[in-house]
Amino acid sequence: MILSLEQLHCYYGLSHVLRGVTLNVSEGEIVSILGRNGAGKSTTIQAIMGLVKAQSGSINIAGTTINGLPPHDICRRGVGWVPQGRRIFPHLTVEENLRVATYKDSKGRQLALDRAQTLFPILRERRNVKASGLSGGEQQMLAIARALIGSPRILLLDEPSEGLSPPAIREVMKVVREISVQGTAVLLAEQNIRAALASAHRHYLMDKGEVPVVMTTEEIQKREDLLVSYLGVAARMPVELGASRRAGHPLAENTPEPSRTSTEAGRSA
Ligand SMILES: Nc1ncnc2c1ncn2[C@@H]1O[C@H](COP(=O)(O)OP(=O)(O)O)[C@@H](O)[C@H]1O
Ligand SMILES: [Mg+2]
Repeated sequence: MILSLEQLHCYYGLSHVLRGVTLNVSEGEIVSILGRNGAGKSTTIQAIMGLVKAQSGSINIAGTTINGLPPHDICRRGVGWVPQGRRIFPHLTVEENLRVATYKDSKGRQLALDRAQTLFPILRERRNVKASGLSGGEQQMLAIARALIGSPRILLLDEPSEGLSPPAIREVMKVVREISVQGTAVLLAEQNIRAALASAHRHYLMDKGEVPVVMTTEEIQKREDLLVSYLGVAARMPVELGASRRAGHPLAENTPEPSRTSTEAGRSA
């Protein structure tokens, strides 16, 4: 188990925002937290990063409890974070954005940069472009590449699909699947059903700071009622889901390989 949260409770002042969140992510897995705006997804991710205090409950990374550790320590233990809204530096070039995330040691730095640019050829191509000149999808790739520079064991991705066009979402989700196949587990916060179902193996449905439902992608596809009640009519994508299901290809090219087993995915460790 790379990440496990046990009965996590967090507050903002008197406001009780996380009310006993229990979830886990294994090596090689992509897991989503699916929920509406305000459900508590970002708070969960920030609590893992040590940016929001856990009032009670435990946060465990690869067998070690990390409650109370400072964020840089949590990073060092193999947790990468892509914040909601990406937070890249718009006035720096692509390469400069990546360099600020690297260590001083120049050999390690070059290796890390090469690895990031191999996974994202578009970033190599556009390395001298200012980040503000990238498309939304490219900016998200840059934010992900930056988070991968420390070679995390688990990557926390906070609403990577936000503000992106459907083709850009597909591109980003393809990269997320690739990252997982290469051995980094992923915890994905999303309110976009299509993005979550296209990449994650399991889903925790979150509402008002609780995650009462956890299902595999296969199970959740049959539970449109749950998707509607947790994500609302506006956010549902049964039109597309329904269409691809009728065509006999649930989510068509976006679905992770059905044959992918945990053993195969577990090459990470
Ligand atoms: N810094 C903050 N101070 C006070 N309340 C906050 C803060 N950040 C988020 N909240 C509240 O906490 C709840 C959960 O927010 P958040 O974790 O951002 O949800 P999500 O990421 O699912 O949209 C919401 O009710 C939100 O208004
Ligand atoms: Mg959020």
